[in-house]
This record gives sequence, structure tokens and C-alpha cells, in this order.
Amino acid sequence: MALLTVEHLNVMYHHRGEVVRAVEDVSFAVEAGEVFALVGESGSGKSSVALALTKLLPASASVSGCVRLGQQSLLESSEDDLRAIRGGKIAYVFQDPSTSLNPVLTIGAQLCEAIELHTEFRGDEARRRAVEWLRDVGLAMPQRQLEAYPHQLSGGMQQRVMLAMALAASPSLLVADEPTTALDVTIQVQILRLVRDLQRRLNLSVLLICHDLTVVERMAHRVGVMSEGRLVECGTVEQILRHPAHPSTQQLLRYRCAISLQGGHG
Ligand SMILES: Nc1ncnc2c1ncn2[C@@H]1O[C@H](COP(=O)(O)OP(=O)(O)OP(=O)(O)O)[C@@H](O)[C@H]1O
Ligand SMILES: [Mg+2]
Repeated sequence: MALLTVEHLNVMYHHRGEVVRAVEDVSFAVEAGEVFALVGESGSGKSSVALALTKLLPASASVSGCVRLGQQSLLESSEDDLRAIRGGKIAYVFQDPSTSLNPVLTIGAQLCEAIELHTEFRGDEARRRAVEWLRDVGLAMPQRQLEAYPHQLSGGMQQRVMLAMALAASPSLLVADEPTTALDVTIQVQILRLVRDLQRRLNLSVLLICHDLTVVERMAHRVGVMSEGRLVECGTVEQILRHPAHPSTQQLLRYRCAISLQGGHG
């Protein structure tokens, strides 16, 4: 059975009497231990899919269809259940880490809170786990970083902290929405490589949202291509990259960036 099943998902935004159909009849599944990439041009509905999974959409949006995590039907879950699932079984990492971290709390306070909220570890044990996670995501002097405030860290370091917070909850699924777009190219490579290494080590399931097919080639097992709210093509990375059938996929292939995760930096 798939870990995440999305069937006939629709997302509409209602704005001043107008309706934007952001996601239309999208169906796909993510298997356990799999990296499934959603790609597509800007505005094609990728983030709307990611947010709809746990009803994180703004009040102006309406969502229909079916989303299941294992056996649990998410769109029908109560707000309390969804709150526990967000950051718990389904962890998110977004594009800009600075908007996800609380500027007035130390890294340690935020990381320990996430650990205490979603695991059985408390107090000193939670702090020990926090140090281990900061080390796992490649932060030097993790003990010292616990006392730091977000503004004292670089964008790349902040995104590493976000990953630590996401993974500390032992999620079943990590949803990473353009996790490196706000970062320098060199740092992007480091963070993507880190996500890939952690995914392999922890056998994580990842929904990776991305517009760069080179990244997809290096990181994902399967890929779905979105265009104008619809999933226009879906298959293994090899199938889709070797034999792109849809014009949107062909367009993405023409413009893919020259990011390589092999060799080079860090
Ligand atoms: N809060 C909102 N209110 C109204 N329309 C929205 C809202 N959020 C997204 N949309 C619209 O829904 C469509 C899909 O947007 P979405 O952000 O899901 O695309 P995306 O594929 O993630 O794009 P990008 O690659 O730029 O992040 C777009 O037409 C967008 O303008
Ligand atoms: Mg987006």
C-alpha cells in the first residue's frame, strides 16, 4: 500500500467573486522510502498540492478529493488531528527558512519544542537529541548553535535547522517545497545533497517540489509534471527524462539548470 495517496484532488481559490482553479483532478501516490518529485512551471499548482495535503491552505481556498496517509483520510480529519499530523507524520520544509523560524526564540528552544511536541523525549534528553540533529544536518559546534537566534545564522544554516526540526519528529513523509530556491547555488547543492543523504539513511519518503529537472534526476525515483493545475505526465525519472511526452516536460528539459550534485562543493 502506498504511504501517501492523492486522488482527484482539486484546489480552488476564491478572490473577489473570481475563482482560480489552481489544482484540477490531480492523482498520484508516494510509496514508502520513495522520493516523488512534482515539477512544473511557476503557477502550475505545485505548492497548492503540497498545502492541500494537510489543509494548510488559506481561508479563500476550497479543496476536494481524497488524500490518504496510510489508511487515514486527511481531508476528512478534524483540525486537531491535522495539527498533530502537520510537523508530525507529515513534515514540511519551505522555500524561505527565515519566514518559518521564530525570530525571538533561540534555535535550541524551537528545536526542543518540536522534539517534545512530536516525540517522547523531554528536558535534557530532548536537548541531547537537538544537538544530535544539528550535528546530523551538518552544523558545526551544534552545542553553541542551540543558543543562537535565527538572524545569527546564514540562510543555508537556517535551512539545515529547518530540516533538523522537520526530521526530529520522525515524519513518515517530508514535503520539501523548493527547499533551496532562496539560497546561493553552492549552498543549494550542499542542502540538496544533505536531503538526499538523509533520505537514504533514514529511508524517508519525500515529496520534493522543484522546477529543476537536473535536481529531480539526481534525487527522485519518480516524477509528476504539472501544468496549469493538472498532472500532465507521471512516471519514473528515467521514463520522463528520456521520453518526455508532454510539451511542458519538454520545455522544462530545455531550461533545466546546470546544477550538478556530483563532485564539486561541500
Ligand atoms: N492565496 C492564493 N489566492 C489566490 N490565488 C492563489 C493563491 N495561491 C496560489 N494561487 C494561484 O493558484 C495557482 C497555483 O499556484 P501555486 O502557488 O500552487 O503554484 P506553484 O506551482 O507552486 O508556483 P511556483 O513555482 O511559482 O511556486 C496560481 O495561478 C496562483 O496564482
Ligand atoms: Mg510554489
